[in-house]
Amino acid sequence: MTARRKKEWFDDDSFWRDMYPFMFPPKRFADAVLEVDKFLALIAPRGKNVLDLCCGPGRNSIPLAKRGFKVTGVDRAKFLLDKAKAKARAAKVKIDWIQADMRDFVRPESFHLVLNLLTSFGYFDDKNQDVAVLRNMFASLRPGGTCVIDVGGKEWLARIFQPTTSRLLPDGTLLVQRHEIFDDWTRIRNEWILIRKGRAKTFRFHHTIYSGQELKERMERAGFTDVKLYGDLDGGAYGSNAQRLIAVGRKP
Ligand SMILES: C[S@@+](CC[C@H](N)C(=O)[O-])C[C@H]1O[C@@H](n2cnc3c(N)ncnc32)[C@H](O)[C@@H]1O
Repeated sequence: MTARRKKEWFDDDSFWRDMYPFMFPPKRFADAVLEVDKFLALIAPRGKNVLDLCCGPGRNSIPLAKRGFKVTGVDRAKFLLDKAKAKARAAKVKIDWIQADMRDFVRPESFHLVLNLLTSFGYFDDKNQDVAVLRNMFASLRPGGTCVIDVGGKEWLARIFQPTTSRLLPDGTLLVQRHEIFDDWTRIRNEWILIRKGRAKTFRFHHTIYSGQELKERMERAGFTDVKLYGDLDGGAYGSNAQRLIAVGRKP
């Protein structure tokens, strides 16, 4: 059942449509092919049924399906799911695509592996809803199954934080990023200003930032055991030098 909720920034398909070229350039898809092999080696899933929660345009779902996994891709944004479906058709793989909110989707004891990748976690103003998502992920796993969450870690962010940065994108667009930390260093408000040919377009979004310990504690609260933190998909240690926070938890 889908709950009635107030509209938030991630509910707006035009956000994902306008951000698509910057968030999902071809290199991100190419990287995913290599990353899928790395995280499969890191976690060694015990079966072939995978839930890619917040699958976006299918960056990870499609390489997994090509490797023989039975993939269910769930995402809120119709625009991104349409992209994913077209890419899956072109790759000639069959994937079960479902449009749903991560707070609602649960399919009890169905998956050997549940993924939530590329900072798709921590979007809700009420942090209890993040725990509700973790509980859904836990419920959807079969006993012995594995959950992988990949976000940007708070330790790294605290070390490199700058309120304003800018860079030139390959197509000549100037991207100015402004960041503000709020809510006792638990959340970040982002403003991305894209300037091209004298025209500026602004995107605003905010989310929770987790430290390794905070994410681990939330996962344990949802029932996960043996939670391990990594700083990269090669199994490198998590810490303030790690650009990613990769948390792997098991369902007993
Ligand atoms: C940064 S993208 C990452 C996409 C994908 N995991 C990847 O690795 O390319 C975040 C994704 O989360 C999805 N999303 C955001 N809020 C959601 C929600 N409440 N329920 C389900 N999906 C959501 C977005 O539509 C988007 O596809």
